[in-house]
Amino acid sequence: MPTSTEKIFSEFKEHSVAEFFKKNKQMLGFSGKTRSLTTIVHEYVTNSLDACEEAGMLADITVKIDEIEKEKYRVSIQDNGPGIPKKHIGKALGQMLAGTKFHRYMQQRGQQGIGASGCTMYAQITTGKPIKAVSFYDKKKISCEVAVDLKTNSPRVENLIEEETDGSKSGIMVEGEFADVKYDKSSFGVFEYIKRTAMANPHAQFTLVEPDGQSVTFPRSIGEVPKKAHAVLPHPLGIATNDLLDLAHRDGENSKIGTFLQNGFSRISAAKVKELKDMLPAVDFEKPPKELGWADAEALVKAFAQVKWIAPETDSVIPIGREQIEKSLQSILAPQFLAVTERPVKIYKGGVPFAVEVAIAYGGHAGRQVAERHAGDVMRFANRVPLLFDSSGCTISEAAKEVDWKRYNIKNFEEEPITLFINLASVYVPYTSAGKQAISNEEDVFAEIKYAVMDAARDLQRYLSGITRERDRKERRKAILRYVGQFSKDVVDLAGEGKAAELEKKLVNLIETKYSSQIEEDEGETGAPKENGNAKEEEDIEE
Ligand SMILES: Nc1ncnc2c1ncn2[C@@H]1O[C@H](COP(=O)(O)OP(=O)(O)O)[C@@H](O)[C@H]1O
Ligand SMILES: [Mg+2]
Repeated sequence: MPTSTEKIFSEFKEHSVAEFFKKNKQMLGFSGKTRSLTTIVHEYVTNSLDACEEAGMLADITVKIDEIEKEKYRVSIQDNGPGIPKKHIGKALGQMLAGTKFHRYMQQRGQQGIGASGCTMYAQITTGKPIKAVSFYDKKKISCEVAVDLKTNSPRVENLIEEETDGSKSGIMVEGEFADVKYDKSSFGVFEYIKRTAMANPHAQFTLVEPDGQSVTFPRSIGEVPKKAHAVLPHPLGIATNDLLDLAHRDGENSKIGTFLQNGFSRISAAKVKELKDMLPAVDFEKPPKELGWADAEALVKAFAQVKWIAPETDSVIPIGREQIEKSLQSILAPQFLAVTERPVKIYKGGVPFAVEVAIAYGGHAGRQVAERHAGDVMRFANRVPLLFDSSGCTISEAAKEVDWKRYNIKNFEEEPITLFINLASVYVPYTSAGKQAISNEEDVFAEIKYAVMDAARDLQRYLSGITRERDRKERRKAILRYVGQFSKDVVDLAGEGKAAELEKKLVNLIETKYSSQIEEDEGETGAPKENGNAKEEEDIEE
């Protein structure tokens, strides 16, 4: 009989990262039926957008969803990107923590290499089927089935067919069957996800074929590929001990910790390394980076905070752009009024550059439709990716909530046809968790979001106060005109002369001179200023 301790250790096992994520699939966004389907579409769509941008191509993406049976769907996604070469297709779609974007300090949507393979795993564990892929890459058409071997986290590629093509077509088509998922039109569903993705990516075109066969296209409103993201070196501020250790242990280029710091970071010069050496006499800067231990890394990170650094370069941040946002929101929401703020790149944690873009759309299709009424809608984005879930813990929602809307002529944000669009662009978006749906409360990020929203809200206020004044003026004119006839008659009666018509004419002229210059001929309620409410317009009305 083994002792109890031996018994415990006879159970000692290892398991692969794929098995880990199979057990913890909620960490990948597979929780809840609607959310799971949105996650699948999100993973494939972000990959297509990343691939097209990196290849400098204008993305054309089609998402098709078919209902096989209740809560079981076939999802297929097709793009016109570069495709995936035969050699990598297995790992790209069937191995977790594998991809081309790993460990890059670069503004891209994917990072960890668990998106596509996570979907493959989800297909397997819910329907027992591999996913099908067709890749057009460099005059080759590769068709195959891919599964993840969960025990070893390695790809299983089967039924591979390779054909020659004339090279005129490129891109990827992935198709999988998934159960325990649901298609609906809620604000968490695929339709909303695609619509918001289209808003933040006006250079791309999206077609969604819904389970009922309806096809919706969000056409591209900008014909230019966004500026290409490039990898940057991390700044010493904003780096944690763990990141520093990771970087040091992966470093294959430098023989000493001193040179690793100088070459692996932005703004660390030879002089700064000397300064760090003087501050940390116990740390051996001559050792190879691979031998950097936790204690030394921690000491270095603490010392980084004491040193004066030049701020990081800001060209790694790629915002969507004012004109782009204007065009896409006009095209999708057709609002009565639109304000877009553009603010300079800022820094958080002293070393991480980021930019916030805000748009407010009012009227038209802006806002959410709740039964017959409109309601205010806050749309959150990180690097152009819509964040649909976990809004309560997100600094974007918190900052938007802090804005005192009454100051901007919005009595109740929850009851107005308003869309508040907020995008955070950064190489390092401070997500609260691996699910990447909420942004943590970094003080500088929070403040910047709030200021950007207030900027746009001021424009909205000008517009709305213009409408109110115009409406008041019209009502006053109407009321006075209603009484002027009778009043003229009464005055004439009192004076005892028969000149009522003449008097009335004079009075009407007087009223028209005062009110008509700003009022359009029609008596409807639509006489509000047509253009964005700018200061000039406000002065005109004020006269
Ligand atoms: N549509 C696509 N076009 C080209 N390459 C792709 C596409 N989808 C996935 N890939 C490749 O597969 C890799 C793994 O994708 P994924 O698991 O989603 O991880 P990540 O996007 O985080 O890198 C990507 O890094 C990319 O190299
Ligand atoms: Mg991905």
